[in-house]
Amino acid sequence: MADNPLAGRDLISITDLSRAEIVFLLDRADQLQSAIRRERQLGHLRGYLLATLFYEPSTRTRLSFEAAMLRLGGEVISVADARTASSAAKGESIADAARVVASYADVIVQRHPAVGSAREAADAVNVPVINAGDGSGEHPTQALLDLLTVRREKGRLDGLTVALAGDLKHGRTVHSLSRALAYWNNRLILVSPPSLAMGDEMVNELRTAGLQVDETDDLRQAIGQADVLYVTRIQKERFADPADYERLKDSYVVNRALLAGRPELTVMHPLPRVNEIATDTDDLANAAYFRQAENGLWARIALLTAVLDA
Ligand code: NCD
Repeated sequence: MADNPLAGRDLISITDLSRAEIVFLLDRADQLQSAIRRERQLGHLRGYLLATLFYEPSTRTRLSFEAAMLRLGGEVISVADARTASSAAKGESIADAARVVASYADVIVQRHPAVGSAREAADAVNVPVINAGDGSGEHPTQALLDLLTVRREKGRLDGLTVALAGDLKHGRTVHSLSRALAYWNNRLILVSPPSLAMGDEMVNELRTAGLQVDETDDLRQAIGQADVLYVTRIQKERFADPADYERLKDSYVVNRALLAGRPELTVMHPLPRVNEIATDTDDLANAAYFRQAENGLWARIALLTAVLDA
């Protein structure tokens, strides 16, 4: 691939990519989507092997990576439940597992409950490692597909007011997305119960990077002001005390009535949803979350061709 700045690179944090590299990937996603719509399968990655190592549950992320690889003519080896079904259950370290898998495959996609786990794997191997979620840390490929979705739904990535609602403390998708939105001139409204707020350190980081950031617990007010509403699941698996989860799980519920009068507000969610978006919103033209999930395929297709330079 000519002029590919991403050949051989890892993707651990969205900030591993520059703004120009993100735009390069989004443009590439558009091009390859058109080609795959025409041809069903391309040959860019013929002869290449992707390994997925997932120590946490996943539907979209793992299957869209695998579908991406197969649509590009490559092949896949996969551990969908590495916590119990791999040698991790025998006490093997992240680094050792990655080192072995890297001797079988050309690229590794890893999800693990520990913050920093993707970095640990990447430091142990020479093939590209893509972080598919490291605990409550980051989920950079989700940010790529979120940006692709915003660009497609809104026609631009700057001058937007984006409301992020839900579990902003534990949610890795909002950590990556907000860092990405800071590459452009945007305003963030952070909507959460106080105990699930993003945290001062990260908010300061975003402000230093140039984002205007406002915090509130008032979802209705945020809906009145935003161009994009990004709803997240309360991350049950990150709570030490189940009683805290029970108390907070229904903090926000977006439904059709709440969205009335805001047909131009793009509603996004990384999925899976539990109760935080009622199904009565699903057929609204501005409910973008299923289109967003599909965009995961196109974003990951772009990324795989770039890191494998093919
Ligand atoms: C998210 C995740 O795993 O962080 N899922 C996804 O990849 N789309 C969001 C979540 O689990 O709430």
